[in-house]
Amino acid sequence: MRKMTEAAATLRPDLAVTCAAPELLAQAEELAVRLGLPLAEAGARHQLLLRCAPEGLELVKPDDPQLRGPLRVDFTAGAMDFRRKQPGKELLLRAVGCKIGRPLTVIDATGGLGRDSFLLAAAGCFVHVFEKEPVLAALLADGLERARQCPDTEAIAVRIRLTAGDALPFLREMRAQGQVVDAVYLDPMFPERRKSALVKKEAQLLQLLAQPSNPAAEKELLAAARAVSRRVAVKRPAKAPFLGEAAPSHSLSGATVRFDVHIAISGCF
Ligand SMILES: C[S@@+](CC[C@H](N)C(=O)[O-])C[C@H]1O[C@@H](n2cnc3c(N)ncnc32)[C@H](O)[C@@H]1O
Repeated sequence: MRKMTEAAATLRPDLAVTCAAPELLAQAEELAVRLGLPLAEAGARHQLLLRCAPEGLELVKPDDPQLRGPLRVDFTAGAMDFRRKQPGKELLLRAVGCKIGRPLTVIDATGGLGRDSFLLAAAGCFVHVFEKEPVLAALLADGLERARQCPDTEAIAVRIRLTAGDALPFLREMRAQGQVVDAVYLDPMFPERRKSALVKKEAQLLQLLAQPSNPAAEKELLAAARAVSRRVAVKRPAKAPFLGEAAPSHSLSGATVRFDVHIAISGCF
């Protein structure tokens, strides 16, 4: 049983790189080499395809009728609506301590597809976002690049710096150098949920690509975050236990998610 769980945790999807048009072949080849992925052969079937398309880099799951349409990181579509329509928006901003007229420096240590980073940047924060899964980081980098080229989103996107890699060693190095930021934001993978129609396309693809929740690693990440900032905000499912079993200073509860806020008193937790 233990062996099966470990095997499942390290199982990677069958993923290949492809392109939607011949003129994008060189781009696909470069990406395949950079990510250490195969190029899809004509006629070959793969569980997932990372496709260079004229609209941007996109992830496709060809054989799943539930997941119609590609997944792209797109901050430019309905950019202004994007901010307004986010249900968790106010809570997220309150959780990191964002106030109008006082731009914060925030590390988003668990970037995913960058939604929360973009919301923070849209509220004026300077965000350094980390994503350790190379394919997700590539999708996010592509979305940010397109957002920088769009007049509606340029001013927001330039406030976001992406590092494709693990945030933990970076936070530890910051600590060693005595560097601090205003806030660290953590939104680790939620404990695995059963596949259901309620789990959106995006969440399903994220679950396929990202490592599942790992409580030990998350505890280390929280400790490293607390060492470089007086404020750490953690997003959790509404009823989930505290990350790392560490009780926060307070929590902000929404309908489905909760933000646990850790605030250092007199400089130390
Ligand atoms: C639930 S998703 C985050 C979603 C994100 N908040 C958004 O708005 O799209 C969690 C992501 O954190 C990433 N992650 C987890 N631990 C990490 C670490 N130590 N460094 C960098 N990325 C990490 C995972 O690969 C996964 O993509």
